[in-house]
Amino acid sequence: MKLYLDTADITAWHKCSLTSAIDGVTTNPALVAECNKSYETVLSEFSGVIDGPIFAQVTARTASAMIEQANRYHQIHSSAIIKLPATEAGFTALAELREKPISAGITVCFTASQAILAGKLDASFIAPYVGRMNDNGQDAVHIVKQILDIYDAHEFDTEVLAASLRNATDATELSAAGVDAITLSPSVYESYLHHPQTTASVTEFHQIWEDAHDNADQ
Ligand code: E4P
Repeated sequence: MKLYLDTADITAWHKCSLTSAIDGVTTNPALVAECNKSYETVLSEFSGVIDGPIFAQVTARTASAMIEQANRYHQIHSSAIIKLPATEAGFTALAELREKPISAGITVCFTASQAILAGKLDASFIAPYVGRMNDNGQDAVHIVKQILDIYDAHEFDTEVLAASLRNATDATELSAAGVDAITLSPSVYESYLHHPQTTASVTEFHQIWEDAHDNADQ
């Protein structure tokens, strides 16, 4: 299973990637806008430091403009993975891009039917937006499990990348269900690292260890 960090902030990347558990980065226009940088700048910054996948989302609205943007991203980083929205323009761009040596998939997915279209078009990934589905009153975990079943039953190669995850509970349930990848915001990633009982138990071990050595020294 791949684990990605969902950020456009290179400082957050440096901080979270210290454990080396993270395989790459996913970005989107909102995350890039928060950094007050151009998409191209963010992509260049990450290209210099990340070995693994870097996902870059198009901001264009028409299929032809999306394809141009995908080409530009590809020139900046030849293994950038292009995120196209699950819209008519996005699916049209995907169909054209699969004729080129550019890896592209579908993001902002809210339904299993969008995932079927992505699978039919050989998308490299489908990114169901778990948190936003739940916000919308949908049962996101159930829908992502349906997508996994459909891809399995029909042998689609498209990878399922669970995105828009707001908590570790949904992320771990979907990991257990067999998603190919998850992307976590730096704060949800932090919640993977820390548990108060782990901190308390480690503190207790340190205390016992130090007491035992103090006694041995006397
Ligand atoms: C995934 O690639 C997206 O960048 C992301 O997970 C969107 O999540 P949001 O709902 O927190 O914006």
